[in-house]
Amino acid sequence: MHAPLFEPYTTPVNSMRGWNGGEIIHLGAEAEVSTGKWYGRDAIQKIRKPRGWRHPDLDKQLTNRRMTNEIKLTIWLSNNDAPVPAIWDVDLDEGKIIMEQIDGKPLIQILNEKQHDDITLKNVGKSIRILHRNAINHGDLSTNNIIITPQNNAYLIDLGLASRDYELEGYGVDLHVLHEIFRASHPSVENAMELVLEGYVSLDNELGDPEKAPGGYPPKAQDVVKRLEQIMTRVRYHGG
Ligand SMILES: Nc1ncnc2c1ncn2[C@@H]1O[C@H](COP(=O)(O)OP(=O)(O)O)[C@@H](O)[C@H]1O
Ligand SMILES: [Mg+2]
Repeated sequence: MHAPLFEPYTTPVNSMRGWNGGEIIHLGAEAEVSTGKWYGRDAIQKIRKPRGWRHPDLDKQLTNRRMTNEIKLTIWLSNNDAPVPAIWDVDLDEGKIIMEQIDGKPLIQILNEKQHDDITLKNVGKSIRILHRNAINHGDLSTNNIIITPQNNAYLIDLGLASRDYELEGYGVDLHVLHEIFRASHPSVENAMELVLEGYVSLDNELGDPEKAPGGYPPKAQDVVKRLEQIMTRVRYHGG
């Protein structure tokens, strides 16, 4: 009998080593997020929780797909110097991601505590535009998923619903989600969307039209803003 060419793969017992857990900071419907250290650096561990009402196999499939999506796109963006956290370790079986902890506060808190200025909101627009120039839609642009650093820069987190996209509509919808959240949750913040759009467009003025991404050319900032205006009109007249 021949010895097997390859040993069967087993998960190393000490996978995800280097993690030293701190406290749970967020218990959402789909994820448990805690702070801690990864080899001594400030880190975040995100664990996808099973959804009780789904069949376990289907649940695992969906969880894996969403996590893989989040990991692939975040790493790709991070390699392109986009403002997203670095991913440091992953365990798909356990549904865990360890990533860089962005030093800062969620935009929702910054706005509620009135710690923002015009630059904060313009920088939010610039950061969104960096994703879009890389042909990636965030997919869930809430004020919880934008972290403002002490230097007033904006990082985008939580890319589980992000996608590669080459259609104008998806980019307009990405901005529209944020616009609706400003309207519903932060009506007292004046000109919030105008400032975001100013920053969004300014990046194309500074860097020129977007370069070719893997699947083609991402849309120009001005065209996305026009589409956003069309979406807003559509929603006003037809409710969605
Ligand atoms: N890399 C990170 N740096 C700093 N804070 C983070 C990071 N990742 C998550 N958080 C915090 O944890 C919260 C929940 O994480 P998130 O990835 O958005 O999970 P969910 O999918 O449940 O919304 C965020 O709103 C943010 O406050
Ligand atoms: Mg989130």
